[in-house]
Amino acid sequence: MLSKKMEKAFNDQIKWEFYSAYLYLSLASYFQGLGLPGFANWMNVQFQEEQFHAMKMFNYVLEKGGKMQLQALDAPPHAWKTPLASFEFALNHEYHVTKRIGDLMDLAQKEKDHASAIFLQWFVSEQVEEEANFGDTVNKLKLVGDGGGLFLLDRELAARVFVPPPAAA
Ligand code: FEO
Repeated sequence: MLSKKMEKAFNDQIKWEFYSAYLYLSLASYFQGLGLPGFANWMNVQFQEEQFHAMKMFNYVLEKGGKMQLQALDAPPHAWKTPLASFEFALNHEYHVTKRIGDLMDLAQKEKDHASAIFLQWFVSEQVEEEANFGDTVNKLKLVGDGGGLFLLDRELAARVFVPPPAAA
């Protein structure tokens, strides 16, 4: 069973994971509007990943006999000055999520909730990948600027597909 504190913290984080999904769906729409379908595809895959994160946590809370109280989502931004600015915004969002996962892990350890600490290890590792993925595209966008290189990068990002992580089982 989950302590009330852990239950609340997981409920709050599930909202953040769904908000992340919402933010990346908004970014997919932004890139589609710019005529960059590869970028839009990349963000659509990220949208699916975030739903996976949220549902992984949701299922864990229920498995542990906890209660879910789904929370209202804030509206995400829908416009950015440049593709680079939008990816920098997303990278900062991921830094924030990493901090939140770290706080959740700290709480699990404080509560001596070993099962939740082990469960959260997956998210700690996932955040390393999330930051690297966004950071990599931020660096590439800095290199290509706003010119024709954007179309080459668009082709590269078009290849991303959603593959449910093995831990989905
Ligand atoms: Fe679910 Fe992008 O962190």
